[in-house]
Amino acid sequence: ATTLGASAAEQGRFFGTAVAAGKLGDSAYTTILNREFNQVTPENEMKIDATEPQRGQFSYGNADRIVQHARSQGMQVRGHTLAWHSQQPGWMQSLSGSTLRSAMLNHVTQVASHFRGQVTWWDVVNEAFADGSSGARRDSNLQRTGNDWIEAAFRAADAADPNAKLCYNDYNTDNWTAAKTQGVYRMVQDFKQRGVPIDCVGFQAHFTGGSNYPSNFRTTLSSFAALGVDVHITELDIRNAPSDAYRNTTNDCLAVPRCTGITVWGIRDSDSWRSGESPLLFNSSGGKKAAYDAVLAAL
Ligand code: XIL
Repeated sequence: ATTLGASAAEQGRFFGTAVAAGKLGDSAYTTILNREFNQVTPENEMKIDATEPQRGQFSYGNADRIVQHARSQGMQVRGHTLAWHSQQPGWMQSLSGSTLRSAMLNHVTQVASHFRGQVTWWDVVNEAFADGSSGARRDSNLQRTGNDWIEAAFRAADAADPNAKLCYNDYNTDNWTAAKTQGVYRMVQDFKQRGVPIDCVGFQAHFTGGSNYPSNFRTTLSSFAALGVDVHITELDIRNAPSDAYRNTTNDCLAVPRCTGITVWGIRDSDSWRSGESPLLFNSSGGKKAAYDAVLAAL
């Protein structure tokens, strides 16, 4: 096939992108979006500060616009994200303890219920593990409500939208031997053993390229898949967009049957949160870069 999404679809996979609601009126942007991708992740519009800016007052306009666009184009939606230490509204940042736990669970329930039937996968919890050598949870207001906050969030999401696939998503979990990767692996293993509802694990893959490419990434993906979850590359971007690193990432996913899709974190370099690093598949004029050709050829 001649586009990323169509090539991925031939293998029962998705190839998606992060989308910003504010750009849906940019025809150069939507032309590429509609042509190339069969999955979208709202870049910011489903985060806690966007969907519940005041406690108990929910705001879905921008997220709904992205979902409507996606559905009109036959694209699947990844919801991002129900519980996270970052991009919390001020009211949530100031809560703690059982009050915060209840507010978090209410948020999960309300948002997952609003999008019930429209979101294929939810990043239920994002970035809950610490960097470095500990392999432990990241300290946060949510973590301080008790170590079971993650499974509580997954159970609430499952109750609100039983058909959605529920994912854990993180970064720096690509290298199989890293303590952080092992910490997440043990949590997923524990959840599967105890019947906590988890269906998938997302690997953000915000890479720096060059010799930093995680050469055992394929081992990581296959090891998690062997626990009985799907795995996804969820926020792919690579400093300076080297073709070899994009090709390797694509091949590593395709080598793992349960790696069912790849999402890049934006369309054009000018759309990227790392725009100074030109890390995406399309240049700022919307032209295909060498990395695009490498990915399409690998798919
Ligand atoms: C980023 C967005 O791209 C930016 O627009 C925003 O200012 C900050 O968040 N990990 C994640 C994403 O899970 O939600 C982040 O997205 C990038 C890192």
